Amino acid sequence: MKKVILIILGSLLILIAGIATYAMVAWDKKYDAPFPELKATNDSATIARGRYLCYGPAHCSSCHVPMDKIDAVKAGAQIPLSGGWTLPIPPGTFRAPNLTPDPETGIGNWTDGQIARALRHLVKHDGGQLFPFMPFQEMSDDDIVAIISFLRSQPAVKHDVPASELSFLGKAIYAFGGMTPEGPTNTPPAHVQIDTTIQYGKYIANSVSNCVGCHTNRDLHTGEFIGTPFAGGLMMPPDAFSLGYTFVTPNITPDKSTGIMAGWNEEAFIGRFRAGRVHKGSPMPWECFAAMDTIELKAIYKYLNSLQPVTNKIEKVVFAPGEQLPK
Ligand code: HEC
Ligand code: HEC
Repeated sequence: MKKVILIILGSLLILIAGIATYAMVAWDKKYDAPFPELKATNDSATIARGRYLCYGPAHCSSCHVPMDKIDAVKAGAQIPLSGGWTLPIPPGTFRAPNLTPDPETGIGNWTDGQIARALRHLVKHDGGQLFPFMPFQEMSDDDIVAIISFLRSQPAVKHDVPASELSFLGKAIYAFGGMTPEGPTNTPPAHVQIDTTIQYGKYIANSVSNCVGCHTNRDLHTGEFIGTPFAGGLMMPPDAFSLGYTFVTPNITPDKSTGIMAGWNEEAFIGRFRAGRVHKGSPMPWECFAAMDTIELKAIYKYLNSLQPVTNKIEKVVFAPGEQLPK
């Protein structure tokens, strides 16, 4: 009997060791998503649109700057996107790379197609998989071109940001296909009209500013959307930037009783965005959004108000360190 147990235990150990070894070698899979046929330009209006998106609605600057410059960027400084933001989470330590044209430490040697593919398909310049921090898969062709054109117009900053490092858990997730790079669900538009319509607001809220990614309840392990879009309820546990606070996103559908914006008119909405951050540690990139033009804010306001009201009471949005969390 003892022998049988030993054999079973031994086999189990070998199996576990086998799985572990597989994860350690097989995580670095390469994906061959297509390179979008988009080309950067020197056109000044295109570069200006790209700069605006990067420091404003698309908030690239909230991550792709050195950690010691985050406060300056929050105060409105448009310093080059030389990378360095670091987020240690269970699947690994993720670092936002240098996006300036330096050939050794930045994007200087990457093609437009490689950068466009990273945004649209979450496949890295070397074919590896990107952890899903950047929900821009359905950004328009024009806006991706504008962003790449802007990135290339920056001064080259030599800043060596070490590559992200996966933990054992992260490697296992990648190795066993628990997370594979996901491209766009719908065909991204070639061009969007910049105006104050619901249509444009929908585009910004879903494909550029990621209002939907935070203001929708999601499975914390898989990132899968489980709540009604924009009805809030996503619990955001403390991370390296939240100063120990936990946040639960408010319901931003136009529900009269449970929507946080019930009773806000367009002016109040725009005023709230211009006023910027209230809660220290909130993951919402208020500083970037405060720099949004009125045209985008009006469009987002119209779009949110066009949504079906959803009754979803969020009792409390901010929890101080140590405070009892809702289950
Ligand atoms: C929430 C933080 C965050 C935001 C916002 C963000 N990024 Fe990133 N980005 C990262 C991280 C972290 C990585 C590395 C991920 C990894 O290693 O898996 C990354 C990787 C990249 C890469 C891929 C580099 C490669 O190796 O191929 C590109 C290109 C990029 N970001 C561009 C952008 C642009 C352009 C924007 C704005 C439109 C943006 N990012 C917004 C955090 C962010
Ligand atoms: C990275 C996550 C994240 C993103 C992206 C995000 N939010 Fe938020 N939002 C939050 C959190 C967390 C709060 C609660 C804490 C706070 O008010 O900062 C919040 C609060 C709000 C509030 C309530 C503010 C108040 O005064 O009570 C509104 C309105 C709002 N968000 C709208 C938006 C819109 C519109 C967008 C897209 C343009 C957006 N959010 C993008 C996480 C996010």
